[in-house]
Amino acid sequence: MKKTLLLAIVALMMCACCNEKNNETTENQNTTTMDFLELTKQRYSERYFDSTRVVEQEKLDRILEAGRQAPTAANKQPQRLYLIKSKEAYQKAQSASFSPLYNAPVVVLVCYDLDSTWHNQRETLLPNYNSGEQDCAIVATQMMYAAEEQGIHTIWIRGFDAGALQKVFDLPANMIPAMMLPLGYPSTESEPSPKHFMRKPLETILTEL
Ligand SMILES: Cc1cc2nc3c(=O)[nH]c(=O)nc-3n(C[C@H](O)[C@H](O)[C@H](O)COP(=O)(O)O)c2cc1C
Repeated sequence: MKKTLLLAIVALMMCACCNEKNNETTENQNTTTMDFLELTKQRYSERYFDSTRVVEQEKLDRILEAGRQAPTAANKQPQRLYLIKSKEAYQKAQSASFSPLYNAPVVVLVCYDLDSTWHNQRETLLPNYNSGEQDCAIVATQMMYAAEEQGIHTIWIRGFDAGALQKVFDLPANMIPAMMLPLGYPSTESEPSPKHFMRKPLETILTEL
C-alpha cells in the first residue's frame, strides 16, 4: 500500500515537471517568434554609418557565421564572401557602384560561384535557371539580421555594375557579384528613410490560390 502511494507521488511529480517544461517551451517559442518579428520591424537601411567606429571581430564573425549557415539550393553553398575593410578596397567597390556605400567601415561583397550553383534544366520560363541570386539573397538576409541582433546596422546594395566589380577586384568570370552589404554602427544622424515606413497591406501582396 505504502509502495503504491509512493509510486503515485513520484508519477505526479514527474507529470508536473513535464508540464512545466512544456509551458517553458511554448513560452520560449512565443518569445522567439515575437522577437524576430520585432527585429524585422526595427531594422532599417542604414545610410549614415559611423565610419570611425570599428566593428568588433566577434560580432563580424557572428555575422559571417550566419551567412555560412544559410540554406542553399541542393546545399551547393555557392556563396563566396569578400570582405572590404581597407580604404583602397572601399574605393574600388565605390568606383564600380552607382549607389553610395555610405562610408561603412565594413562591406561584405556577396558573390556566387556560377560553377557551383544548382541549375534547373527543366525551367521553361527562365531557361538555364541557376539558384545563385536566391542563394545569395538568403545568405545576405541571415547576415543582415545577425548584424541587427548585435546592434550593427546594414544596407543592401544592388546599385552596382557587376562586371565592373569583377574587374576592379580581379574576380574570375564565374564569380558573380550578387549584392553588397555595407555594415557598421549608426552615427548620431542615423534615421530610417520615409520608405521604411511604407509597406503594402497584406491583401495587396497575398493571394490564396
Ligand atoms: C535588392 C535590394 C537592392 C537594394 N539596393 C540599394 C542600393 O543600391 N542603394 C540603396 O541606397 N539602397 C538599396 N536598397 C535598400 C532599399 O532601398 C530599402 O530596403 C527600401 O527602400 C526599404 O527601406 P528600409 O530597408 O529602410 O526598410 C536595396 C534593397 C534591396 C532589397
